[in-house]
Amino acid sequence: MTKILITGGAGFIGSHVVRRFVNSYPKYEIVNLDKLTYAGNLANLADIEHLPNYKFIKGDIVDAIFLENLFAEGQFDAVIHLAAESHVDRSITNPLDFVMTNVVGTVNLLNAARKHWQDDFVNKRFYHVSTDEVYGSLGEDGMFTETTPYDPRSPYSASKASSDHFVRAYHETYGLNTVISNCSNNYGSFHFPEKLIPLAINNIKSNKPIPVYGKGENVRDWLWVEDHARAIDVIFHKAAPGTTYNIGGHNEWKNIDLIQLLCKIMDEKLDRVPGTSAKLITYVTDRAGHDLRYAIDSTKLQRELGWSPSLQFEEGLEKTVTWYLHNEEWLEGITSRDYQAYYNTQYNR
Ligand code: NAD
Ligand code: TYD
Repeated sequence: MTKILITGGAGFIGSHVVRRFVNSYPKYEIVNLDKLTYAGNLANLADIEHLPNYKFIKGDIVDAIFLENLFAEGQFDAVIHLAAESHVDRSITNPLDFVMTNVVGTVNLLNAARKHWQDDFVNKRFYHVSTDEVYGSLGEDGMFTETTPYDPRSPYSASKASSDHFVRAYHETYGLNTVISNCSNNYGSFHFPEKLIPLAINNIKSNKPIPVYGKGENVRDWLWVEDHARAIDVIFHKAAPGTTYNIGGHNEWKNIDLIQLLCKIMDEKLDRVPGTSAKLITYVTDRAGHDLRYAIDSTKLQRELGWSPSLQFEEGLEKTVTWYLHNEEWLEGITSRDYQAYYNTQYNR
């Protein structure tokens, strides 16, 4: 029996990781620890919450005493750590929230793991899920590899970079069996509509302006979220202690090209005259310090562990749109809460 603590499992990526592990490994015990911030939503896990190898615990990783008690009782064999504040725009408004959860919360988890696993580090595993944004911003050329120097430029990426450094330090200093993966932008079902793709789908559906920052020329490298969850599964089971893997889909899109493609798919799905949705595109004030381009080189993961992305972007985007159109209740559950207040402040509406 393997007992795994997954943090942030009620969020976007975490819910896909929890679902994958609960369904694929019925003999594992999966414990989902989540604070249920604005981004956490147990509706993301409604299909698996009744399964006997799944348990949810509400709690905050910033609370060291809570974590100490949880580890003392839990007897975990591994941690897969996804809990984080994850939105760059919110990090520009409230950087300290990101320091608390992403840095202090991660160090609290590392301390609990170090204390409770010290007699058997070899057979335990601390997997830290991170982002390609720690590497900074690329120009027209080049890609991030595992040896690209860290150069974070937003409060979000600075906090994730800091957490990566602490994880590495606990491996080097104490011998904790750690693994880190740095992934590019994810998309798919259960994505909170503050991020570009679900926000644009929601706005197009409601005939609201689609806010495109600056000139729309920033480039992101998009990966189907279920491919990320599968990569985490492979890395969790196969990676050597202390290693790092980049995860990405070799799938770069300028924001404006992506939005144009999305508009085309939405016109088809909503039976609108071609070109209708694109009329909603509205250029707005650019994000402060907006990273120009991210691109991940995932050769190491492909070569060493045999992972590769499964979906072409056009197919994945169409599946994503279909999911949002079939899950209006899920979307309304979010947009009817404090989402509107955030939206009004962020977009001056
Ligand atoms: P998300 O914002 O959708 O979910 C974060 C989850 O963490 C939520 O369920 C939230 O309730 C929980 N959480 C926040 N603070 C907490 C705390 N103090 N204690 C316990 N739980 C807390 O984020 P996501 O997009 O699913 O990202 C998950 C992880 O993957 C993050 O670490 C992020 O940095 C990383 N990542 C995200 C992307 C992306 O494209 N979204 C890409 C690469 C890496
Ligand atoms: P986002 O989904 O916030 O992810 P990240 O900032 O982590 O890459 O943004 C993706 C890209 O889309 C990024 O270049 C910023 C841009 N963007 C917009 O143009 N408009 C928006 O309303 C949002 C949320 C993002």
